Parts: sequence; C-alpha cells; structure tokens
Amino acid sequence: MCGIFGYNGGKEASSILLGGLYRLEYRGYDSAGVAILSETGVHRSRVAGRVEALEAHLKTHPLPPAGVGIAHTRWATHGAPTERNAHPHVSGRVTVVHNGILENYDRLKQELEAAGRVLESETDTEVIAHLLDLAYTGDPIDAIRQVSERLQGSYALALLFADHPDRVYAVRVGSPLLVGYGDGESFLASDRTALLPHTRRYTPLGEGEMAILARDGISLFDRAGQPIQREPLIATEGADAVEKGPYPHFMAKEMDELPTAVRQTLAAYLHGARPFEGQLPDGRQVKELVLLGCGSAMHACLCGQRMLERWARIPTRVYVASEFRYCDPLLSEGTWAVAVSQSGETADTLAALRLCKERGIPTVGVVNVATSSLSTLADQVLYTRAGPEIAVATTKAYGAQVALLGLMAYRFARDRGCLAEDAPFSALPEALEQVTATDGACAEIGQRLAGCPNVFFIGRGRDYPVCVEGALKLKEISYLHSEAYAAGELKHGTIALLHSGVPVVALITDPCLRDKTVSNLKECRARGAEVILLCGEDVGEVPADAYDSRLTLPGGMGELSVLPAAAALQRIAYHAACYMGRDVDKPRNLAKSVTVE
Ligand code: M6R
Repeated sequence: MCGIFGYNGGKEASSILLGGLYRLEYRGYDSAGVAILSETGVHRSRVAGRVEALEAHLKTHPLPPAGVGIAHTRWATHGAPTERNAHPHVSGRVTVVHNGILENYDRLKQELEAAGRVLESETDTEVIAHLLDLAYTGDPIDAIRQVSERLQGSYALALLFADHPDRVYAVRVGSPLLVGYGDGESFLASDRTALLPHTRRYTPLGEGEMAILARDGISLFDRAGQPIQREPLIATEGADAVEKGPYPHFMAKEMDELPTAVRQTLAAYLHGARPFEGQLPDGRQVKELVLLGCGSAMHACLCGQRMLERWARIPTRVYVASEFRYCDPLLSEGTWAVAVSQSGETADTLAALRLCKERGIPTVGVVNVATSSLSTLADQVLYTRAGPEIAVATTKAYGAQVALLGLMAYRFARDRGCLAEDAPFSALPEALEQVTATDGACAEIGQRLAGCPNVFFIGRGRDYPVCVEGALKLKEISYLHSEAYAAGELKHGTIALLHSGVPVVALITDPCLRDKTVSNLKECRARGAEVILLCGEDVGEVPADAYDSRLTLPGGMGELSVLPAAAALQRIAYHAACYMGRDVDKPRNLAKSVTVE
C-alpha cells in the first residue's frame, strides 16, 4: 500500500532514497517524504503528490549531506494526502515511516492525548512515533519490541533514532519488508524490485522480526529481541526486470511479456507425467474447491472455476476475498481452498486464507511474488512465473494465474479420468503472440472508446468472466464507466441504458454460443448501440448485420481462448487510457498492492 526505502552507507542518502522511492511508487503515490540523519541531527522533507514533486522540492531545499536515511511513498488510509500527513513522522528522538494500518489507533491516540501528547497529523503512524518516544530509554530494539506488543493491525516500520546516528532500524508485522546486503552499505525496502539496482542479496523479515542496518552489516532479531542468523537469499532477476526499457509504460512492456509469463508458468509445472506432481493431491480426493481473490485475481478465479467444473467436474465456488469472512462459509472435509494473488500481500485475501486455515481445510496459494506473506501462510505454494509486475493494472500476472488454474483443472481432470481430449496448453503462448500482433487494431478500438461515458462488455459462457476483467481494466486506467454483462442478461433491465452510439464490446469465442450471442448483438444494434465484436476465428460465420466492427482472435484454443480474449481487452483498455492522456501505470486513487482490509 505504501512504499518504504531505507539506506545506510557511504553514498549520498537523499539520492539513493529517491531512486528507491521511484521504484516503489507503484505501491502508493499520493504523498512522499524522506528523512536523513546528518551530523546536525534529523532533517526531513515531505510533499503532497508524487516522488517527482519530492525530488523537485529537494532540488530547491536540499537536505544536508548524510549517509543514513529513510523514505516513504504513501497511499492514504488515515488522513488526507497532505504534507502534514505525509511520512516520515517525528516524535522526540524517533523518526518513523510506516506501511500498513493500525486497528487500535483510536484507543492509542486517546491514551496519548490524555497523557498530554499533541499530535500534529491525522495519521496512525504518528501514534507509533509517540509510543516509541515514550518507551525509548536508549535501547531502540527494546523500545520497538515493547511498542510492537501494543500495536494491533499490520505494520512495516523504518526508524531513525537521533542518538544512534549510524543506524537504521526496522520491524515488520503483516506488511512486507526486506533488508538488502550491499558492499559497505545496507538497504531496506518494501519490495525486492527496489533492491535490485543495488544488490541481489536480501532477506525478507519474518513476522515480528526486527533489524538493525549498519554500514558494515545487518543484525536480525526475533520478536522477543533475541538475535537470529539467516543466510541471505539471492534474487535471480537482474535490475532490467524492473526497468521500462524502450516502452512508454510498464503496462505496455508487461502486456508484451504476457506470452512469456504464460510460457514460463506452464513450463514450471509440466515436468514429468503429471503437472504439479507432489504439489497437489490426487484429484479424486478433492470433493470441492473454494477459490479466493480480489479484483483481477478474483476474475482469474472465475475463469479457473469454469475449467475446474467443466474439465475436472469438481464443484468450485469463487469468493471475493473481502466478503468471504462475512458469509460464514460452509467448509467441510474434502474442501480445498486456493487463494490467488499477484503480490501475495493483499490483506483481504490473506484474511480469507487464515479463516480457511482456522477451519482446518488444506490451502494452496497461487502467487507471483516469492517470499510474500501468502507464500508463507499457505500450506502449499504454486508460483506463477510472470516476473516482476510494476504497472498497477495487472496484465501478465493475471494471464499467468489463469494459465496456472487451467493447468490445475487439467491435472485434476486427468486424475479423475474425466477429460477426453488434450487441452492445447502448448499453443497458448503463440496464440498470445498473435494477439500482440493485433495491437494496432486494439489501438483503433481503444481510440473509439476513449471519452465515452459508458462502455458495455458482453459475452456468454467462458467469455463472460473475461468481459468482467476487461471492464475492470478499462475502468481502472481510463476512468471510463464500464460494465460487464452476461450477454443474455442485458435484456432484463440494463438494455434500457443502450441508445445511439453507446459502445458494446462483445466477445464470442465459443462456437456453441455463437447464435445466441448474435441474437443479443442484434438486440443491442436495434437500440442504436455500436457493437465492436471480438470473435474467435473458429467461431464460424457471424452475420454482418450483428456488428459494426470486428477483430478476429486466434481460434482452436477451446476453454483456453479466455486468455487471448483477455489479452486483447487489456490492449484496448491500455490504448483508450493513452488516448485520454491518463497516467496509465499509476491510475488515480489506486495502489498496486492493497495491504489494508
Ligand atoms: O496482488 P493481488 O493479485 O492480490 O491484487 C488483487 C487486486 O488488487 C488486483 O488484481 C487489482 O484488481 C488490479 N489492480 C487490477 O488490475
């Protein structure tokens, strides 16, 4: 939700911290700040707005030279995105930046105010700064340990203590934080991608763990304050994995990487006779599946549900993870839960998974970010191999999720002896490359949609969940209102919204559903709507009076045609947003990783 970066070394801290913030900005970008510890004490600089604004401010108001500092880019939870609420927050000798949310904030704030403390901001973070200042008697780790016992919720903190000028301190509970080992320098970041330009050696802090970053090394402590030893992990990707390269946006780069993401994900599990050998139970033991996710991950679950039910004949329920706990879900023996998440840090998905664990059912995490919270929580972890995804709108990671769930369905179906034909997984990356080649045509459709007050996406069967994802993609990056409807459902009310010129993007990838969907398209055109048809090349003839324009999608993919269709809708949304001059990679009000409930 927010991004944290910390540095202790021989270089100029301000510029290293700014570089770190730029790489973490996708996590939240409504305000930013930095604090350094120089010979003259703590100095901080904060702005409402982007890291760019902070950099400009630092040019006109430079901080004194220093090699130690912490920085933050914010997605507001408590208090508006103003300079006053921007991190770092200072109380006495303590300076803090925070990612997460305090659930007992009100009570702690009242307590502090009753004790005569005056809080300057509306943030929960400032409460932490005051509690630490009160608890601090000279030993930072002891103060952090004591205060941690009082905090409820999730928090990753980076801290400076003014009387320990050569140290950065850190702790994490529920929100991610990693330390990075350099040569004569140490780093701290919310995400491994921000460490890559400096070092590939890193350690994710475990729950409740604390760290002291010195120039010559990093010390780790457990939640009781006892020292712990851990060998650093080595990141396999290079710094270029998190650079835009020649692309105008990360989203454009990541859409082009979709075929590779799917290819790598499939290749990771297709060794030997059965995919997921030793990682999933025999499909005959699985009586029912519960799929959990938020946003696009939940939409990937909808695609997975269909394949699991049609191929493997396993009853499958999909839950919006944020609602799961409130439906008192029926979970019985033989039910398996699968939680799907790119970041592995989505608070609602983690909470849903915890409930499944409490109820004693086996859990599987489908996750892209190794070492994320979800990957430590789930009983079994299946990684999507999409590589780092930076754009807030997910594209390649969503594709990898659908491919992995499809492969899971295929494996269970084989176990249960209920899939007659082979599914064309090996042809999938190439089909996705064919969609990449239609980018010009997608751009034309995007241009047509740009600026329209309402856009509808309709489809039947497997095409409907893809429409839901297409509508979300368009909403989140173009800010256009869009709605997805099962094509046959439109006439039960929503068709009242159609009139001359309203764009209806229609999907037909299933030949069996062609004629029924064509009838729905004609109903739309009869009301003056403009039908933009995306149609599989194996769907057969569609009468020319059913649509206004047409884009052909690769055929022969059966149930897997959801992926080429989704890839085309991603490109259409991308181009619509570009034509409207939107900030495609960092759409308003959003953040890549949603670590609050
Ligand atoms: O990291 P996760 O996959 O758990 O994220 C879930 C959603 O927040 C995410 O898919 C969101 O809907 C995307 N921004 C959509 O593009």
